[in-house]
Amino acid sequence: MQIFLDSANQKEIEKWLHEGIIDGLTTNPSIMFKDGVYDIEKGARSLCALFGDRPVSVEVTSDDREEMVEQARTFARWAQNVVVKIPVINERGESCLGVINTLNREGILVNCTAILSFNQAMLAAKAGATYISIFSGRVADEGNDPSVVIRNVRQWLDDWDYTAKIIVGSIRAVMDIQAAALAGAHIITVPPPFLAKMVDHKYTRDTVHQFNQDAEKALLQIAEVHARGSAAGK
Ligand code: E4P
Repeated sequence: MQIFLDSANQKEIEKWLHEGIIDGLTTNPSIMFKDGVYDIEKGARSLCALFGDRPVSVEVTSDDREEMVEQARTFARWAQNVVVKIPVINERGESCLGVINTLNREGILVNCTAILSFNQAMLAAKAGATYISIFSGRVADEGNDPSVVIRNVRQWLDDWDYTAKIIVGSIRAVMDIQAAALAGAHIITVPPPFLAKMVDHKYTRDTVHQFNQDAEKALLQIAEVHARGSAAGK
């Protein structure tokens, strides 16, 4: 299973890349805006450079399907590791599967985003999406169980030999991450603050503290033994 960062915060991204656990990046216009990235081209180019050959998802900003195709073609020229995020439908409920299919036939990688149901995921895979972004938190907002959706989509992809990968996003709690991992997500995209929470544990801190204290005591003992030895040798 892979872990992506769901962020556009360069400082946090560099910090977590350094930890050696990050396989890619996802962004969306809200994340870019929140993290102060107002120039999408400049931001995307610099994020893509940070990630080398690892995928970086950048979302189209138009609700018009023809414009989505044009934007995606432009984004794909910015860097070789750009993946274009296309919503499964636009805000008027019109299908964007044709956009995904066109881009797929042109060799542009698509992350089909804002997926909230099993049916949407199936259609995204059939249209040729490389990644299918299931929004865990938003599925739960609607009173549905994200683990069930993730498990069913994974089973269906495997049964029918689709190569599309599930990215689980919209993480709202650390528990969402382990639930998605156990339900069969190929990838989970995690906002940086949750990574910090995942690695931390109060009792681990206490345990390490105990070891450090005992190591210090042992050093003192050695120093005392040496001191006694030197005094006896006088
Ligand atoms: C991931 O690809 C999504 O852009 C993101 O996780 C959405 O999360 P939200 O529901 O918190 O907006």
